[in-house]
Amino acid sequence: MNSKTLVLKISNGNFEDTISRAAHILKQGGTVAFPTETVYGLGADALNPAAVRRIFEAKGRPADNPLIVHIASMDSLDRIATDIPPIAFELMDAFWPGPLTLVLMRKSAVPDITTGGLDTVAVRMPDNPVALALIREAGTPLAAPSANTSGRPSPTTAEHVISDLSGRIDAVIDGGAVEVGVESTVLDVTSDVPVILRPGGVGLEDIKKHVGEVVIGYTDHAVGEGEVVRSPGMKYTHYSPKTKVVLVEGEGRAVAAKMSELVESYSEKNMRVGLLITDETAGYVCADEVYSLGKRDVPEDAARSLFAGLRYLDGEDVDVSVSIIIVDGSVKCCGVGVAVLNRLRKAANELIEV
Ligand code: TXA
Ligand code: MG
Repeated sequence: MNSKTLVLKISNGNFEDTISRAAHILKQGGTVAFPTETVYGLGADALNPAAVRRIFEAKGRPADNPLIVHIASMDSLDRIATDIPPIAFELMDAFWPGPLTLVLMRKSAVPDITTGGLDTVAVRMPDNPVALALIREAGTPLAAPSANTSGRPSPTTAEHVISDLSGRIDAVIDGGAVEVGVESTVLDVTSDVPVILRPGGVGLEDIKKHVGEVVIGYTDHAVGEGEVVRSPGMKYTHYSPKTKVVLVEGEGRAVAAKMSELVESYSEKNMRVGLLITDETAGYVCADEVYSLGKRDVPEDAARSLFAGLRYLDGEDVDVSVSIIIVDGSVKCCGVGVAVLNRLRKAANELIEV
């Protein structure tokens, strides 16, 4: 299956034709990767079990890890979810289209394979013209996890998708680099007090303005054997390059001092060192390969660079070949910065707090 992946590049004047070709593949039960505002998603008809199975196969994704169902209009909500609480409608009003996923009670039209057998379904309306047009043209909600091989950093460009999934999916729409760079915030609104299952593109502070009380239901590490989780995705390792990642967290100057000490000691062992680093820290530390996270107090820039940086330093785009990646964790931990630090902690093999 899918011996060749069709690359459909959006350019002047071909938008409608591209969407209609991609939608045709989806209607036939195929898989198409497409840009959303957060990361690239790997889409298939959410209501067609055979199509959804292809997503799991292409990604090598564990079958109990449910998918987010993407819709383009409020009319579709009725087909997939039921018993929707008023707070959910308020949040949709405030944040849709946008990087907020709501976990709702599911309707039986959504097959088990899409929800990993759960009685809930995760739903979002993405804020990207390609994604919205594709869902509309396909005429069905699209199940779409991030379009990476399971466990790898999420894709923020079509090249990342191709690097992971070429030959394993039917097509990818190249709509350029995404805007947000980390995945959506996942909020479970099926209980009395909503639970944040994953920090993401919408900041906790903004959600709290609407819901008041929320429970933090995620961890910053891969959950161990035997721990109870509300979101199956928490059990699995995430965002990991092949190269070892060391994350240094703390106040700016202390992080810079620790990072330069680490660079020195690894270099003495003849290791080539790569840095994923804020502009401020970069004034104090240098190494063989450097990728910028932007300014410390602009977490939006770090969000956009994070996955591309991990992939670059892992030697994906060019032959970078470093034997260790040291990451600057002094990015401001508010808004989307909470998601940035969450992803960095999950990607790291070692966390040093200074
Ligand atoms: O920004 C995003 O959300 C991207 C783009 C493509 O939309 N998608 C994405 O999907 O990140 P994925 O599959 O990589 O992550 C979905 C997360 C997983 O952690 C999964 O366990 C959780 O959402 N999830 C999905 N359905 C759920 C449910 N019914 N209950 C609890 N957690 C759920
Ligand atoms: Mg993912």
